[in-house]
Amino acid sequence: MSLFSNIPLEPKDPIFISNDKFNNSKAEHKMNLTFGVLMEPGNEPNLYQFKCVSKAQDIISKENLDHEYPPLTGLPDYNMAIQNLFFDKDSRVVKESRIMTVQGITGGAALTIGADLLSKLATKSIYLSNKTWSCYQGLFQKLEIKYYPYYDEKTKAIDFENMSLFFSKLEKGSVVSFIINSHNPTGLDLNLEQWGIIGKLCATNKIFVFFDIPYAGYSTGSFQTDITPVRLFESFGVEMFIAYSTEKNFGMYSDNCGAFMAILNKPKAISALKSHLIVCCRTLNSFPSLYPARIIIKILNTPELKELWESELKSISDDLKNKRQLVLKEFEHLNIPINNYVNQQGLYLFLDINQKQVDYLGDKYNVFVVPGGRVSISCISSKNVKVFAEAVKDTINNKDLI
Ligand SMILES: Cc1ncc(COP(=O)(O)O)c(C=O)c1O
Repeated sequence: MSLFSNIPLEPKDPIFISNDKFNNSKAEHKMNLTFGVLMEPGNEPNLYQFKCVSKAQDIISKENLDHEYPPLTGLPDYNMAIQNLFFDKDSRVVKESRIMTVQGITGGAALTIGADLLSKLATKSIYLSNKTWSCYQGLFQKLEIKYYPYYDEKTKAIDFENMSLFFSKLEKGSVVSFIINSHNPTGLDLNLEQWGIIGKLCATNKIFVFFDIPYAGYSTGSFQTDITPVRLFESFGVEMFIAYSTEKNFGMYSDNCGAFMAILNKPKAISALKSHLIVCCRTLNSFPSLYPARIIIKILNTPELKELWESELKSISDDLKNKRQLVLKEFEHLNIPINNYVNQQGLYLFLDINQKQVDYLGDKYNVFVVPGGRVSISCISSKNVKVFAEAVKDTINNKDLI
């Protein structure tokens, strides 16, 4: 008899179900479009390695650094370098000591830190967009998850009318989370005017915002442009947490870092929150890793490397746009209506298909996508786009699957 003999099976993460099917497929030509990773621009089937990261690694390897314990909340230079990306020393929140930044372990861990603080100190629930990243269920498990209108199943677009109406009526003190760009899974982002409207409603109704930022720079090619909603909301006086993932932003999937930031209206509240945060970091993360933090410090604090990083983000974003165009052109060529997809941007193409269709794509064509039909556009190239588009056409036209 074991303590674990009668435990129920936990459902698998949908992303890994498709990935396992890809790994188990014996087909010679198969496509793994599941993971949100960056591949090399063009047709290369290799993971993109940021040049700025390789250069920083070279420099660091000669510095004879040890493996000492870092502070619980991460290296101060790292926290400052990340914070500077969002709010520099001349910004209001820094001058007024209303911001703090700590190193996470991943973007996901930063979300967990925020969820822990929220559930202990502030709220019992959080609102997410009505279609969203499946991992939030686990990361926000200490909170009840509720939804605000975002994706309209009928029009396959953002339902901004109902979204803004919802925010105008949302109870004071509610907590909402936004993915600011390259929305996962829909690829649909608010424009700046719409962010302005939602930001003002959040300020008026005293709504607390938790920004999740894994893909800054992927949509427009500029990190700074993509994070505009954060500064906009701050300018309206909205209090916020930010979970930032360095994983995708630097292509450091196995050496991830991340950061958690808080901006509150009173410096005293920041100091009090920090005391809780230290306990939270100790119990959730223990000590964060030094190695990836050192790489990122080197990049962000060395002007040439920072410039290189920014130019690499631009190239990545251009490549994602090119690959999306490849798909849309091929869809048009095959008479697949593209209206549903033209406004999508960033890392994902969202087919919005049912599970039978997802299974059919995998079983018949060895094209593996995440349930719902989220496609990692970076994995598309001129070599596989025809097979992909033909598979999609057959799948969405097959009446037996609807
Ligand atoms: C919406 C969203 N948030 C956060 C993350 C980042 O998580 P992590 O840095 O833990 O991989 C991802 C990554 O896939 C994501 O899609």
